[in-house]
Amino acid sequence: MKISIIGTGHVGLVTGACFAEKGHDVLCADSDAEKISRLRSGVMPFFEPGLDGIVKKHSAAGRLKFGTSVSEAVRHGQAIFISVWTPPLKTGKADLSFVENVCREIAGSLRAGERRLIVEKSTVPVNTARRVLDTLNRYASRDASFSVASNPEFLREGTAVEDTLKPDRIVFGVADAESERTLREIYSAFNAPIIVTDVASAELIKHASNSFLAMKISFINAVSLICEHSGADVTRVAEGMGMDHRIQRAFLNAGIGYGGSCFPKDVSAFIDISRELGYEFRLLEEVERINRDMRTHFFRKIERELWILKGKKIAALGLSFKPGTDDMRMAPSLTVIEELMKEGAAVSAFDPVSIPAARAAFGEKGIREGGLLSFASSAEEACAGAEAVCVFTEWPEIVQADWKTIGESVRTRIVFDGRNCLDATALRAAGWTVKGMGRPMA
Ligand SMILES: NC(=O)c1ccc[n+]([C@@H]2O[C@H](COP(=O)([O-])OP(=O)(O)OC[C@H]3O[C@@H](n4cnc5c(N)ncnc54)[C@H](O)[C@@H]3O)[C@@H](O)[C@H]2O)c1
Repeated sequence: MKISIIGTGHVGLVTGACFAEKGHDVLCADSDAEKISRLRSGVMPFFEPGLDGIVKKHSAAGRLKFGTSVSEAVRHGQAIFISVWTPPLKTGKADLSFVENVCREIAGSLRAGERRLIVEKSTVPVNTARRVLDTLNRYASRDASFSVASNPEFLREGTAVEDTLKPDRIVFGVADAESERTLREIYSAFNAPIIVTDVASAELIKHASNSFLAMKISFINAVSLICEHSGADVTRVAEGMGMDHRIQRAFLNAGIGYGGSCFPKDVSAFIDISRELGYEFRLLEEVERINRDMRTHFFRKIERELWILKGKKIAALGLSFKPGTDDMRMAPSLTVIEELMKEGAAVSAFDPVSIPAARAAFGEKGIREGGLLSFASSAEEACAGAEAVCVFTEWPEIVQADWKTIGESVRTRIVFDGRNCLDATALRAAGWTVKGMGRPMA
């Protein structure tokens, strides 16, 4: 089928490439002309394992094309997926202005007598589809017609291609049988259970799922604080809890909290839309608060141990919000490194893939490299001469770094393991002080 995707980012590009992989004829459009021109030359806009290969394969075969205008996308696709960003406003509300803009452009591009299925792929608050349909009808020529469906995305950065090709489930929120038929045809080659709901329920499934996962993380982080006060080990507590099939082990890893482009903004947008609908979602407000506090807690732990931070070199390992991605959006490392530098520490940072994105993220905050911040090309280099090492992301390159060499080159063997990912027993035997999260001697 001819499909268009508007918004060629982490979701749009992966979705487009995977639709092409399943035999569809896909056009991915984006307003960022530079991104599109780089994609046409085979340069990926972000790091995502396996993406480069399928994008190049299907671009060469002509099944995956790129464009810069919404009107091209409207001409090409029988179904048009909107996957532009929906970032948080200062109030926590989702900024839907990009979605509205795209709808206005779609409406303006559709000729009289034509019909399109518009699919919300971006994560949006419940009842956004009503607004989308109103906007399309308001700005379209009289005889053009639309259906609006919701098809929320559950991919995880770092495993996005595999998640998209083999999803746990596919959710369609539809208002009519024709929309369902079209979506079933698009996903006919995907071997996954499909749940079909009304549009509002599908929109809610996404916010409720992400908020639930964020809640699991904050729950175990709160438990980790009790562990620190009581001498229990949160990793054993999580293991014991997770063996209960009603609970499950996933998302019970204590640490410095969640970040990224999804959980923080989806939780705050869910709180906001709930309030607008008349319900104060206090449970989720607490989830957010616990998450914020974990960063402060981690920073205080460093401060308590090192006493004076001014003039000390601290190594920061793993900058992206999780392994497998170079996404720095809302990464806990950003907050903690900023705090360390405010106290006068010199930070030497390393990440296997995120250094360009980290340079941009710190640059946006007005933090210039070469002052208190520097970047190293390996974990070993970052740690040489450091008075302490902080681990923010459990990249294999960090967990499996040469900790013997690191131990010989640091000034003092103190490591703050923000992800409980290091072998604390082996490190302690090698003379390290290991401060984990919610573990004995933390
Ligand atoms: N990143 C994830 O892991 C993930 C997972 C599931 C759902 N989502 C949701 O999917 C949506 C997109 O997220 P993302 O991470 O892909 O964002 P992204 O920032 O990687 O990409 C968004 C793209 O939209 C483009 N864009 C913005 N306005 C446009 C316009 N008017 N016309 C054309 N293109 C436009 C931007 O240039 C950018 O390339 C969000 O709502 C997000 O919450 C993201």
